[in-house]
Amino acid sequence: MKNLNNKKILFIICGGISAYKSLETIRLLKKNGAEIKTILTSSAKEFVTPLSVASLSQGKVYSDLFSLENETEMDHISLSRWADVIVVSPTTANTISKLAQGTTDDLASTVILASNKQIYLTPAMNVRMWEHKSTKINLKKLKDFGYKLIGPETGDMACGEYGEGKMSEPLKIADKLNQFFLNQSQNKKFKALVTAGPTNEYIDPVRFITNKSSGKQGYVFYD
Ligand SMILES: Cc1cc2nc3c(=O)[nH]c(=O)nc-3n(C[C@H](O)[C@H](O)[C@H](O)COP(=O)(O)O)c2cc1C
Repeated sequence: MKNLNNKKILFIICGGISAYKSLETIRLLKKNGAEIKTILTSSAKEFVTPLSVASLSQGKVYSDLFSLENETEMDHISLSRWADVIVVSPTTANTISKLAQGTTDDLASTVILASNKQIYLTPAMNVRMWEHKSTKINLKKLKDFGYKLIGPETGDMACGEYGEGKMSEPLKIADKLNQFFLNQSQNKKFKALVTAGPTNEYIDPVRFITNKSSGKQGYVFYD
């Protein structure tokens, strides 16, 4: 996953049971050379601690929209500017709903709305929440807004049920991000040749022919 090297990833963790998997995703991204800053929603802090996230990411962990620490720079603007890509993992039903409405009542949702970067969502929730019509409508909106989805998968859930809504594995998430950066670098290399004006038929001035009666062969030159 060499395309992750030196890439700036803003990693947002929401309050879902699969938040523990995000520690592994962060470890993988870091191992492959990415620079990581993290935002934890206040619910996320119930599932993973800022200390474990800071230790694994070796980067700063943010949570508060109104922080006195960074009074000179507005985090919600500077974090979005800093990032090459934003990943929300896990993405809860609540955050999906907030993003679909454009709600900005915490640091995570405000940074996302203030961003013009590509945003990846990795939804994770109980199958009933995933199949709820309001989640479906919200997701349709988010796709229209340009958000990209990774997963969710079908399988056994932490709540004991089986179905769609299980978060994708860290390796798959890291791989998708690697692919995103690979595509980005290939698009930069691609150069299009645009021509204007009429096209002219090209007549080959030299032909190799065979004389039918004599059987002789040779080149004929046209002016
Ligand atoms: C034990 C437990 C596990 C939860 N797991 C999930 C989950 O996997 N997905 C989800 O969408 N919400 C889950 N929730 C509910 C969210 O924590 C809740 O909706 C919260 O408001 C999400 O806040 P956030 O989107 O700001 O992080 C869970 C709640 C509890 C108590």
